[in-house]
Amino acid sequence: MTVKIGITNQKGGVAKTTNTINIAGALADRGLDVLAVDADPQGYLTHRLGFEDAYLAEEDSFYEAFKDPSSYDVHDLVVQHAEFDLLPSNIDMFHLEQDLIAAGMKPRLRLQMLFEDVDEWDAIVVDAPPSLGPINDNVVLATGQLLVPVEADASSQLAVNHLLRQLDTLEDNYGTRIDILGLIVSNVDYPLDNEQRDAIEWFESRFGEHIPVHVIRRRVAIKRAVDAGQSLFGDGVDDCDMRDVYATIAAEVADA
Ligand SMILES: Nc1ncnc2c1ncn2[C@@H]1O[C@H](COP(=O)(O)OP(=O)(O)OP(=O)(O)O)[C@@H](O)[C@H]1O
Ligand SMILES: [Mg+2]
Repeated sequence: MTVKIGITNQKGGVAKTTNTINIAGALADRGLDVLAVDADPQGYLTHRLGFEDAYLAEEDSFYEAFKDPSSYDVHDLVVQHAEFDLLPSNIDMFHLEQDLIAAGMKPRLRLQMLFEDVDEWDAIVVDAPPSLGPINDNVVLATGQLLVPVEADASSQLAVNHLLRQLDTLEDNYGTRIDILGLIVSNVDYPLDNEQRDAIEWFESRFGEHIPVHVIRRRVAIKRAVDAGQSLFGDGVDDCDMRDVYATIAAEVADA
């Protein structure tokens, strides 16, 4: 069984890509074969991991496979990173949402179709774009299990409420169940100000009874590792106390 996890929040800059790299790295560190998927047309995950060429490729890209899943095999599109495999984003994915809608047939189920018979990896971790459009819907429906990065501020509370409404709509429209496996309050800088404290308390009281709420602190080591195309679990990366938090998240989701 392949565990599929979407890392999603339509709010920009809440550490989706940073968490994708570190959760993929943490799962690989547990001995799992991991595929990270860059579903963001901006391709930051692809760039951070050093695959600019694949992002600019004109043929046989994730863009084409997303539009026409039955004609492509995921394995042919994957590149190898030192810690895990990557399905790179492609510059043409900026057209994808319009193309999916124009094409009509099951525009929100293409990613699910692409991963349907894929069982080579133990875990697939998908970095979603910062929008609530059809690509994000594809990520949600293809994985059915989500980790939601949030920031410790009032606007993140609003963003999570919008996301929950969208998940309800998808559950109703597609007769499926979507689980939130955890919230990751990310890039948190201590000492907390009142807004940050209120936000973390709200996340814990709103979700904490049923869903783990993890806190990842702002750390230079995290930024430095990602800038070097590695997770905190990569070779030669500086020690960082947040490794343990990512290892805990990986342990929770590994058997989800
Ligand atoms: N724990 C952390 N410590 C230090 N820097 C962090 C941490 N988490 C995220 N950042 C930084 O915050 C910025 C935003 O993070 P990231 O790109 O992962 O967010 P995102 O949600 O993927 O953004 P987008 O919505 O544009 O896709 C980046 O510069 C990243 O390096
Ligand atoms: Mg991102």
